[in-house]
Amino acid sequence: MTDNVDHGKRRMLIAATAAVGGVAAAGAGAPFVLSLQPSERAKAAGAPVEVDIGDIEPGSMISIEWQGKPVWIVRRTKEMLDLLPTHEESLADPSSTVPQQPEYCNNATRSIKPEILVVLGVCTHLGCSPTFRPEVAPADLGATWDGGWFCPCHGSRFDLAARVYKGVPAPTNLIIPPHMYLSETRLLVGDDDKSKLKGGQPADKGAAA
Ligand code: FES
Repeated sequence: MTDNVDHGKRRMLIAATAAVGGVAAAGAGAPFVLSLQPSERAKAAGAPVEVDIGDIEPGSMISIEWQGKPVWIVRRTKEMLDLLPTHEESLADPSSTVPQQPEYCNNATRSIKPEILVVLGVCTHLGCSPTFRPEVAPADLGATWDGGWFCPCHGSRFDLAARVYKGVPAPTNLIIPPHMYLSETRLLVGDDDKSKLKGGQPADKGAAA
């Protein structure tokens, strides 16, 4: 009986180790994922995800996973930011009147820091993941394209503040998830309760919500 239990425990340990190894291998194969991930169980329960954003090049985007969905983090350049106010008449909700963002991101850049945009990578039409197209006026998107995301499923367009253009199927801007800075280069996606921070660390980091 004891022997059976010990074997059972051993099998569980081996299985758990293999699962962790599998996650590590998957992470190593995804060059854009820089996050320090909590356990799989905690992730499934919606635990926040800590991300090192220090290596994101200006004009570039990384993608992490939070609650099983992609979250994009973009370091916008000054040129990108300067273009945001220039096409507002073409947007469906340029002032973000629909509550698709936390209050602290209800501003012109839809972000805490102007250069860093954190946005859920899920189209507000039917849930496809749009494509990052940061270039200005590419041939396939036209002369008025100032950079943003294009959803190939049904053609919805979003600018580099993740605001939806008029005349596309997506009804609203993309969602800005809750997030907060733990330091200049460490971002926590999925939680914005600063009262949980203890010495720069979330008090319940990695725990199920
Ligand atoms: S799901 Fe993006 S346009 Fe339909």
